[in-house]
Amino acid sequence: MTMFNTKVKCLHRLLQLKHTCWCPTSRAPCSRLVLGIETSCDDTGAAVMDETGKILGESLHSQKEVHLRTGGIIPTVAQQLHRENIERVVQEALERSGVDPSRLSAVATTVKPGLALSLGVGLEFSQKFVRRHNKSFIPIHHMEAHALTVRMLQPVAFPFLVLLVSGGHSLLAVARGVDDFLLLGHALDEAPGDILDKVARRLSLIKHPQCATLSGGQAIELLAKDGDRMRFPFKTPMGQTYDCCFSFAGLRNQISMTIMKNEAEEGIEQGTMLSCVNDIAASTQHTVASHLAKRTHRAILFCKANGLLPSNRPTLVLSGGVSSNQYIRKALTIITDTTGLSLLCPPAKFCTDNGVMIAWNGVERLREGKGILPPDVDVSYAPKARLGVDMTADVKAAAIRLPSVRMKIPR
Ligand code: KG4
Ligand code: ZN
Repeated sequence: MTMFNTKVKCLHRLLQLKHTCWCPTSRAPCSRLVLGIETSCDDTGAAVMDETGKILGESLHSQKEVHLRTGGIIPTVAQQLHRENIERVVQEALERSGVDPSRLSAVATTVKPGLALSLGVGLEFSQKFVRRHNKSFIPIHHMEAHALTVRMLQPVAFPFLVLLVSGGHSLLAVARGVDDFLLLGHALDEAPGDILDKVARRLSLIKHPQCATLSGGQAIELLAKDGDRMRFPFKTPMGQTYDCCFSFAGLRNQISMTIMKNEAEEGIEQGTMLSCVNDIAASTQHTVASHLAKRTHRAILFCKANGLLPSNRPTLVLSGGVSSNQYIRKALTIITDTTGLSLLCPPAKFCTDNGVMIAWNGVERLREGKGILPPDVDVSYAPKARLGVDMTADVKAAAIRLPSVRMKIPR
C-alpha cells in the first residue's frame, strides 16, 4: 500500500512538473505564463507574458492601411483579414517567446465589446487552441484591458479614475479592482476617434502629402499644429447636460457644415484640399479636447463628493488610441492640475489595441483567480457590453456645475 501511495505521489509530481514552466537559465520553476489574443476591431494581436508582467514575445498585424484605402472599417473585410493572420500572429508570439503551448497556464482572449465578426475569429481560434492544448480560458472585456494596462508598467493601486478614448469607445469609470468598475459616463453616439477619422475622410486627408499613411486622429493632430484653433469656434457638446456622458455626432455635423461652406466659398469640389484645412483640424481637435476635459472634470468632482478616490493625490489614467494625442493630454493635464490629481498615460504603443494588454488582463485575473474557465466551456462573444456598474444616473442626478477653467492649452 505504501509502495502504491509513493507511486501515485511520484506520478502526480511528474504530472505537475509537465505543467510547470522552467526557466531556461536558472533551471528553476518560473511564473505562470499567459497567451493573450486580441481581435475585437482591426488589429490582430497576440502576446506571451509571465506572471510578473514581463512580455516574452508579441506580434501584431494592423489592418489600418487596408481600412484607410476603403474609407473605413468594413466588418467582413476585417473578419477576413483576422482569419488570414491569426494563426501566424499567435505562432509568431509563441516563437518569439520561446514558449511551447504546453507551458502556458491560460489563454486570455477579448470576447467583448467590439465588431461581432472580428470578435468571432479570435474566440473561435482560442477555443480550439485551449481544447487542443488543454488550457484554461480567460474571456476578456476589451475596455477592462485598456483600463488595467497602466498597472503592467507601474504600480498604480486601486481605486483610480480612468478615461478611455478610442475609435470605438469613450468612457469614464472608477477602477476599484480587477473586475470591479463604476461607470460614470459613456458615449451616447459616436466615439471621439470615430469622428476624427470621419472628419479626416471628409477632408480627404489621405491625399495630403503628410497624412497619407496616418490614421484620422494622427492626421488631425499633425495638421492642427499649424492651424488656428480659434478660426472656427465650434460649440463644445452637451454644455447644458450636467453629467459625464459624451456626444460627438452634433460636433461632426457642425464641422461638416463648416467644410461645405468653405468649399462653396473657395469654389472647390469635395475631395480637393481646402486652404483652411489646418484651421479646421485645430478647431476640431480643440473642441474634442475641451469636451473630454469638461466631462472628466465633472467625474473628478463627483468622485471627490462621494469619496470614490483616495484623498491623497488620486490618479487619472488616460488610455485608448485617442489618448496618444498630445494636445488632448495637455487639456487633461490642466484639469488634473486644477483638481490635484496625477495624470498617467501609458506610452502610445500600449494605448492602442494589442495582444499585450489582453495578456496582462489575463495575468491580473489569473493572480486573483477571477473568471478562469476550463477548456471545454462554451463562451459567446458580445459586441456590446457595458463596463462595470452603471452609475450614470447618479452622476446626472448630482448635476454638478463646473467652475470655469481657462482651457489655454499649449501647443
Ligand atoms: O484604441 P484604438 O487603437 O482602436 C480602437 O478604436 O479600439 O484606437 C484607434 C483610434 C482611431 O480612431 C484613431 O484615429 C485614433 O485612435 N488615434 C488618434 C491618434 N492616434 C490614433 N486620435 C487622436 N490623436 C492621435 N494622435
Ligand atoms: Zn481599443
